[in-house]
Amino acid sequence: MKNITGILGIQYPILQGGMGNISNAQLTSAVSEAGGLGTIGAGTMTAEEVEDIILETKNLTEKPIALNIPISVTGHLKEMVELVLKHDLAAVSLSAGNPAPLIPVFKEKGIKVICVVASAKQALKAEKAGADIIAAEGYEAAGINSSLETTTLTLIPQILDAVNVPVVAAGGIGDGRGLAAMLALGAAGVQMGTRLIATKEAPFHANYKNTLLEADDKGTVIVGRSVGRVRRIMKTPYAETLLMHEREGMKPEDFARITSEDFHRKGALEGRLDEGFINGGQVSSLVADIPTVKELFERMIAEAKECLASGAEILS
Ligand SMILES: Cc1cc2nc3c(=O)[nH]c(=O)nc-3n(C[C@H](O)[C@H](O)[C@H](O)COP(=O)(O)O)c2cc1C
Repeated sequence: MKNITGILGIQYPILQGGMGNISNAQLTSAVSEAGGLGTIGAGTMTAEEVEDIILETKNLTEKPIALNIPISVTGHLKEMVELVLKHDLAAVSLSAGNPAPLIPVFKEKGIKVICVVASAKQALKAEKAGADIIAAEGYEAAGINSSLETTTLTLIPQILDAVNVPVVAAGGIGDGRGLAAMLALGAAGVQMGTRLIATKEAPFHANYKNTLLEADDKGTVIVGRSVGRVRRIMKTPYAETLLMHEREGMKPEDFARITSEDFHRKGALEGRLDEGFINGGQVSSLVADIPTVKELFERMIAEAKECLASGAEILS
């Protein structure tokens, strides 16, 4: 087990996952203030839009924050790298592309590099290139998923067997039981997306939060499999429309158009669940309340301690 709290200068081993074009200062700063690593997701936003969020977040917290750059998606890679350096962020999270050429640029400035991966092969490559932390994301997770569709439970041990750097587990974690399970597997911490949407500070539309609260084990669907773009979203009227188009043989370019960030914003920010989609992971079926981020983290830590102690007792 490796200590990511020391590496990142945070209190709890809990990271916020990047949240593309719906990122905001309120949730990011709340995560950092509560002792985790608040993360802004660059998505496809412009440098000006991202810089505004960085500045607003820095006004709300002096604690460490990170920027998630989805390498092959951003469209503004050079500018995003420059923003991380200019604002001397504590960490950068690199996903959706080859991080190797970027890692030395950040490491030279002492910025910690978290690489988001979905296979042992990707993890090994990231470690060789100098990643400080691997965030391994399983198929339970919200948003764009690997076409390998490997579940978190099986992914984490595979990655731990492949690399020596600390591994953070993402996908399916939303309470202390999930945190304890991942620590028991050998992960050094967790990264969450879905559970953080359903918090008081998250400025997303009430329809988004209510969909998570009401979700059961049929609450999410995978869209895009037919066009090679696996994405887990909440089962809303818009999700049904996407699935219908796929059944009718929609072309990949048309699917990409109707799952662009504009449609993500329509769902998540405007709550128009028949005109836009909302990312959501399988853990949504465990979401039963809207706590503050601090309440959520404190509850998770206490519950995880209890789970790990009772597991040890069973084995004693
Ligand atoms: C609304 C939303 C947007 C997301 N956007 C991104 C993104 O831009 N980049 C990325 O690497 N991951 C993104 N993810 C994935 C999260 O960063 C995180 O790894 C994932 O949600 C963890 O699984 P969970 O949803 O089961 O907690 C997104 C997740 C959500 C919920």
